[in-house]
Amino acid sequence: MSEASEGQVDTVMVEQRLFEPSEDFSRQARIKSMEDYQQLYDRAASDPEAFWAEQAREHLHWFTPFTQTLQWDNPLAKWFIGGTTNACYNCVDAHVAAGRGDQLAILWEGEPGDQRQLTYRQLQEEVSRFAGALKQLGTQPGDVVSIYMPMTPELAIAMLACARIGAVHSVIFAGFSAEAIADRNNDAGAKIQLTSDGLHRRGKVLPLKETVDQALAKSPTVEKCVVLRRVGNDAPMQSGRDHWWHELVDSVEADCPAEPMDSEAPLFILYTSGSTGKPKGIRHTTAGYNLYAKRTFQWVFDHRPDDVYWCTADCGWITGHSYIVYGPLAAGATVLMYEGAPNHPAEDRFWEIVEKYRVTILYTAPTAIRAFIKWGDEHVDGHDLSSLRLLGSVGEGINPEAWMWYHTKIGGGRCPIVDTWWQTETGGIMMSPLPGAIATKPGSCTKPLPGIRPRIVGEDGQNVPQGRGGMLCIDHPWPGMLRGIWGDEQRYQEQYWSKVPGMYLTGDNARQDSDGYYWIMGRIDDVINVSGHRLSTIEVESALVSHPAVAEAAVVGKPDEIKGQAIAAFVTLRTDPNEELRQGLKLHVRQEIGALAQPDDIRFTAALPKTRSGKIMRRLLRDIASGKEQTGDTSTLEDFSVLAKLRDDEE
Ligand code: WT7
Repeated sequence: MSEASEGQVDTVMVEQRLFEPSEDFSRQARIKSMEDYQQLYDRAASDPEAFWAEQAREHLHWFTPFTQTLQWDNPLAKWFIGGTTNACYNCVDAHVAAGRGDQLAILWEGEPGDQRQLTYRQLQEEVSRFAGALKQLGTQPGDVVSIYMPMTPELAIAMLACARIGAVHSVIFAGFSAEAIADRNNDAGAKIQLTSDGLHRRGKVLPLKETVDQALAKSPTVEKCVVLRRVGNDAPMQSGRDHWWHELVDSVEADCPAEPMDSEAPLFILYTSGSTGKPKGIRHTTAGYNLYAKRTFQWVFDHRPDDVYWCTADCGWITGHSYIVYGPLAAGATVLMYEGAPNHPAEDRFWEIVEKYRVTILYTAPTAIRAFIKWGDEHVDGHDLSSLRLLGSVGEGINPEAWMWYHTKIGGGRCPIVDTWWQTETGGIMMSPLPGAIATKPGSCTKPLPGIRPRIVGEDGQNVPQGRGGMLCIDHPWPGMLRGIWGDEQRYQEQYWSKVPGMYLTGDNARQDSDGYYWIMGRIDDVINVSGHRLSTIEVESALVSHPAVAEAAVVGKPDEIKGQAIAAFVTLRTDPNEELRQGLKLHVRQEIGALAQPDDIRFTAALPKTRSGKIMRRLLRDIASGKEQTGDTSTLEDFSVLAKLRDDEE
């Protein structure tokens, strides 16, 4: 193992469990067998342009047909050249035009328990009206609209209204600070700000408008601000600049048709963290993105018209963009949206919602799953989850033990789990089981979707031998890919297209097992090098999580004079901490994967520091482990939440 050449990563994980889709599930699925999948995959791989052209003609509405499928001037891609379409039309009007106006588009529940529902026809009317309001405020095609709103139907309506008139939205998760909003507004040159008087979170009201006012004091490009009344507090309004949403929409006609937009017209910017701290505005465009979100939604979630689909993400992240708004709505799905926290008023809120709305497809994140495990099975027991037929996971690798809990406790052993690997930059899911076709293995995202060609390479850019870990790259453009970084085309080229010539660098490590299944091994920067062995964090973490006392674990490297790096583990427990357990955990990892991976340090913590999107803040943990950052308290249970808050906006 120690002779690994540059860039390769050793694997220590042995996961043997395999779950075949049930015959019943496969029979009714869109893609019913491995043969079906392979056929589709091969067709796409042998001629990607012909494949995507056919998909685009069939699955988007074209005002003007495109004349060229792809122009690839590495790293600049243009898809469906010469065509005009509209993402809002595809998501809303197309269904009304096809006679499905009475189908439910959005089912919504607020944190206090209030409910609303919108059919596609009602959605069309609301979107159209708000698009008219944006126009009345002077919004032009290409203008950037900054959105800082709670998870209400109006958030989706606002995004779609921008798409309708060719404005570019930049959604900022409503937990970010005024400083973070101002940075993003200035980088994007935002002209309009959308917000609300407040939002409900864990039973409290957060005054969003006050945060926005602080941000706008430092956002000179923003001319107008629209405020949705959500909580009914006395939000401060600045005359001339600020308008109430309800007053604006009352004053315009509902008739604002969808504007034909060029295929490559920017649809949105979404800021994501970069390694240097300055957030990057990932730029997505219209036709390719919309097509990719729609088709991947249909393939991966095996969508049927009677499904009630719930993605628990916030629209402030790419998951909300692609799999609450642009994918499911383009597919004509019924989408459930929930405004609040998973533990309000109690830890069973999600299961109460699943039961109440008879949710059939649930898409959530490993960080949430691990929280449910920690909170205890009693919150799940007693709820009827029999409506569920498919489960999804996104955002991080899912530890095999968490996968098993999700499978048995939530899925009742009958629901396939789609572990979906993708990124803000990829626009949509890149690798995932197709639930009727591909047998799953806990912890593996299994196989690439049609049209996606992954490669795993070493530092030399050559494929690593099968079974070894290396850098995950994608070797052909796909319609959903980012088109650039807003205002920084050089960074786009450098970051994604330079290290391995001709290929998109994902920044993740991965390996392929002997069945050709892919296993994501974490970010390239997170690899730990112990005595010349390059270990992936997720594998050591999964060994820790397989111990019954452990709820969650994060593993980082810290400098070590002899080994190069030593392993430091931060662990949250399902039981009380004690010295014996610390030793027991070290031994457990030693037994599970070997002496090499045994953590040198184990620190118990009340909670792991996470970014607002739920990712563990490994940079912060590395600093703590190496003594660069002091926690003050090193008693039995540490708490990194304050440090995490300080660092969050830059992660
Ligand atoms: C990074 C992208 C994808 C939408 C939400 C996050 C990690 C994501 C998985 C998965 C292992 C995963 C990767 C990726 N990641 N999904 N199923 N298995 N790792 O989007 O914030 O752009 O993060 O999240 O490291 O590169 P994002």
